[in-house]
Amino acid sequence: MVSNHKVRCRFRPLVEADLAVFEQAYASRSDTGEYQWFGHSPPGRGLVEMGALGSEGGRLTAVATDDDRVIGSAFWFRRIWGPPETSWCWEIALHIHAVERGRGFGTECIRLLTRYLFDHTLTQRIQAITDVENVAAQQMLGRIGFTGEGKLRAAQWREGRWHDQLIYSLLRHDSVVMPVTEDGHGHAGTG
Ligand SMILES: CC(C)(COP(=O)(O)OP(=O)(O)OC[C@H]1O[C@@H](n2cnc3c(N)ncnc32)[C@H](O)[C@@H]1OP(=O)(O)O)[C@@H](O)C(=O)NCCC(=O)NCCS
Repeated sequence: MVSNHKVRCRFRPLVEADLAVFEQAYASRSDTGEYQWFGHSPPGRGLVEMGALGSEGGRLTAVATDDDRVIGSAFWFRRIWGPPETSWCWEIALHIHAVERGRGFGTECIRLLTRYLFDHTLTQRIQAITDVENVAAQQMLGRIGFTGEGKLRAAQWREGRWHDQLIYSLLRHDSVVMPVTEDGHGHAGTG
């Protein structure tokens, strides 16, 4: 089990200098990870195309607090389950750079991101979709308190075949184990 209570990371806005870092992070199957490889993207994408700005979602850069190195990025976008004025929620996705995985950063980032979105937006629901074989993502979401809601059959086309996906959600009033504070004490909270 990864002990996330010693892991320190934070989010900051995406800046121009991050673009080259993220282009590299999405440049190959070994960089993206097998569950996020959808082929090559055009190089030199700008901040808007990377989803940094916009009313339909956003993106933040994750950095390690010890030396401020970029460890990954998180983004979120609007999903609609009924009338768009009322029945919308955020869907989140996280990418930790290949060399930084398995050290607790992913879990800590999802905790920080869910708190950020519940604090700064009116969303009632945050959802995440992950491949049925993506054990790391499933463990990460479960550790934070996301509830598995079921399987979406043949929902994603990747590398020549359809892949089943699992859908998870965290509601505003679900209990979440929040990140430890600077004095080292964790606290339970609701988004
Ligand atoms: C999924 C991802 C974000 C997890 O980030 P991470 O920093 O590696 O996650 P953590 O170190 O916090 O580990 C999370 C859990 O997964 C487990 N885990 C990590 N790597 C694993 C692996 N390769 N196989 C199985 N379990 C793994 C950890 O043990 C931990 O579970 P635990 O807390 O019960 O011990 C990261 O692997 C990644 O960016 N993958 C590529 C992109 C992707 O698949 N994103 C998910 C889209 S929702």
